[in-house]
Amino acid sequence: MSAEAAAGAGEPVLDVRELAKLYPLTRGIVVRRQIGSVRAVDTVSFTLRKGETLGIVGESGCGKSTVAKMLVGLEKPTGGRILYRGDDITRLSGRALKAVRRNIQMVFQDPYTSLNPRMTVGDIIGDVVGLNPEYVNRYPHQFSGGQRQRIGIARGLALRPEIIVADEPVSALDVSVQAQVVNLLERLQDEFDLSYVFIAHDLSVVRHISDRVAVMYLGRFAETGTEDEIYGHPTHPYTQALLSAVPVPDPGARTRRERILLTGDVPSPADPPSGCRFRTRCWKARERCALEVPALAVPEGFEQVTGPARHASACHFAEERQVVPED
Ligand SMILES: Nc1ncnc2c1ncn2[C@@H]1O[C@H](COP(=O)(O)OP(=O)(O)O)[C@@H](O)[C@H]1O
Ligand code: SF4
Ligand SMILES: [Mg+2]
Repeated sequence: MSAEAAAGAGEPVLDVRELAKLYPLTRGIVVRRQIGSVRAVDTVSFTLRKGETLGIVGESGCGKSTVAKMLVGLEKPTGGRILYRGDDITRLSGRALKAVRRNIQMVFQDPYTSLNPRMTVGDIIGDVVGLNPEYVNRYPHQFSGGQRQRIGIARGLALRPEIIVADEPVSALDVSVQAQVVNLLERLQDEFDLSYVFIAHDLSVVRHISDRVAVMYLGRFAETGTEDEIYGHPTHPYTQALLSAVPVPDPGARTRRERILLTGDVPSPADPPSGCRFRTRCWKARERCALEVPALAVPEGFEQVTGPARHASACHFAEERQVVPED
C-alpha cells in the first residue's frame, strides 16, 4: 500500500458498477437449447484508487476469475460498467480500447500454463526487469514455480500498466514461496505506484497486501471493508465463518475463537437460493432471509465510518455483532 492509498486519498482509477456476467446454460449436441443461465457474477460494484490494493476473497466457483477476466477484457460483461478513469471500457472498441487495455494487465494463477512454453524468458518479458543475462535464453520449464510466477508478473508489467489484476497469483505456489512473491508485488507497487486487484480463496493470503477486502459469495460481495474491519470486526456470517477457519497465530490468546463449520455445499449459481444467497449455509438464517435480498450496505449504527472505504455487509442482521455463541 502506498502512503497515498493509506490516507485514502488516491484518485479512483477503476469504478466498477453493477458488473454482471451470465453464462448461458445449454443442453443438446446437435440442436443447442438454452435451458437457463449461470449467474457467475451478479452485480458487483467497487472503486479502486491509485496505489491501493483491493483483495477479493471467496470459495472456488464464486465468480472471482470471471470478475478478473471482465476487468482485463477477456470476457464481456452481460451487465454493468467498468470505468477506467471515467471511460466505460465495456463500450470502447478498436484503438481506444487497446490504449486503455494496456493499462490493466492480468497476472494468472498458474504461471506455467500462462507462459508460452516455446518462447524464451527474454522474449516473454522483454527488458522490463533487470534479468540475469544467463536466464534470458531459457524457457519457462527451466524455472521453478516461484520463478515462473515472477516471470508472469514481469510480463504483466511489460506494458507499464497502471492496474494489475492478479488472479490467485500465489495459490499454486509452496507456502514458503508465497510470501516472496507477495513481497515482490508490494515492492513493485511502491516503485510503479500500481493499483492491484488481488484475488485469493483464502483470507489469510490477502490480509497484509490489501488496503480493503471484499468477501465474495455466489457472484456477489457479502462484505467489504478495510483490513481492520474485515479481520477485526466482521459483520457478515460468511466472513465470520471464513475467519474462524484461519488458524489463530497465538494459541494462548484469551479470546478463543470458535470454529464455525459451514454445512452444506455452495449452491449452484444456475439456481441460487431466494433472498440471501448464503441462507442455506447460514446459522443465523431466519424467515426474512428467504424473502428479501439483503443489500450490501453499512449496517445501522455503523455509518460513522470515515473515508472512502465503507464497511458494508449484505446481511439483514449485520448490526448484531455477536460473532458466535459463547460456550
Ligand atoms: N465459460 C463459462 N461457461 C459457463 N460457466 C462458467 C464459465 N466460466 C465460469 N463459469 C461458472 O461461473 C462460476 C464462477 O466461476 P469462476 O469465476 O471461475 O469462479 P472462481 O474464480 O471464484 O473459482 C462457476 O460456477 C463456473 O462454473
Ligand atoms: S441475511 Fe440471513 S441468511 Fe443472509 S447472512 Fe444474514 S442472517 Fe445469514
Ligand atoms: Mg478462479
